[in-house]
Amino acid sequence: MADVPLMAGKSVLVTGGTGGIGKATAIGLAALGARVGITGRDRARTEAAAAAIRAAPGNPAVDAFAADMSAQAEPRRLAARVLDTYPRLDALVNNVGGFWAHRQVTADGLEHTFAVNHLAPFLLTNLLLDRLMASAPARIVTVSSGAQARGRIDFDDLQGERNYSGQRAYSQSKLANVMFAYELARRLEGTGVTVAVCHPGVVRTGFGAGDQAAYFAVMRRPARLFMKAPAQGASTPVYLASSREVEGIAGRYYASRNPTTSCKASYDTTAAARLWQASAGLASLTATA
Ligand SMILES: NC(=O)c1ccc[n+]([C@@H]2O[C@H](COP(=O)([O-])OP(=O)(O)OC[C@H]3O[C@@H](n4cnc5c(N)ncnc54)[C@H](OP(=O)(O)O)[C@@H]3O)[C@@H](O)[C@H]2O)c1
Repeated sequence: MADVPLMAGKSVLVTGGTGGIGKATAIGLAALGARVGITGRDRARTEAAAAAIRAAPGNPAVDAFAADMSAQAEPRRLAARVLDTYPRLDALVNNVGGFWAHRQVTADGLEHTFAVNHLAPFLLTNLLLDRLMASAPARIVTVSSGAQARGRIDFDDLQGERNYSGQRAYSQSKLANVMFAYELARRLEGTGVTVAVCHPGVVRTGFGAGDQAAYFAVMRRPARLFMKAPAQGASTPVYLASSREVEGIAGRYYASRNPTTSCKASYDTTAAARLWQASAGLASLTATA
């Protein structure tokens, strides 16, 4: 009898599945037999990515959801559609993220990097938590970055109003990803929902391409030769969302599929609880986990 694929019968949502690490993660999970939902800002681009993933042999079940994660109304709308579409949700991969060199303000009046990279996955995860818990054992995987190590949560200026730098805002948001994952893992203890966070490696994707900053224009060209391919970057998120080896393990940071330590600040439980409260306020989340 042929082996049953590891993710057969499971439903997974991967945010930011139109390209880069997210698309490769969706391909990897679909190949393991999962029904996969992907998200992207533009409907046509998201449908096209879903069709491309569907075209690979053995991946017929791919759904496309258009949502711009910078405006909080959209993760809210996305969550409602996901709840309608998937009676069970076995894994959520929070992958959307980016680098913006210049300060921008979202429709909600929030700084764009913090809003997209941290507040959107914070909000979406919370809105999908009941379904994940009802589907337990279930997994939440967030794609952070090695940049977390340079991060500092500036509680007095979370929005970079006084002082903005793209690098600082990105590192802060990626540290926030790790602290959110650890805090969520503590809150979900005993529920059967596990939480992991990872660095995907330095990967050849569209990362930073939407920003004209000289830093990326200079850095990207020669450096791209030495970067991982998207499928290699997806290896850790796919592993964390699917492998039996990490079943029941929560609150760890991974790189190259191995658990490793994140920066010292990420283990500050008082700061993590404070970040949760601040994030819940900024995301207008009344009922939290
Ligand atoms: N590449 C690296 O070397 C690297 C290293 C460390 C960590 N990471 C992390 O890996 C994750 C994925 O990055 P990537 O390198 O794959 O980048 P990418 O190629 O730019 O892909 C980003 C994905 O996010 C989506 N996206 C961007 N802004 C969005 C928004 N406002 N609303 C909804 N979707 C949005 C994009 O979709 P549309 O443009 O179609 O909307 C795309 O699917 C990020 O969290 C990043 O921080 C990357």
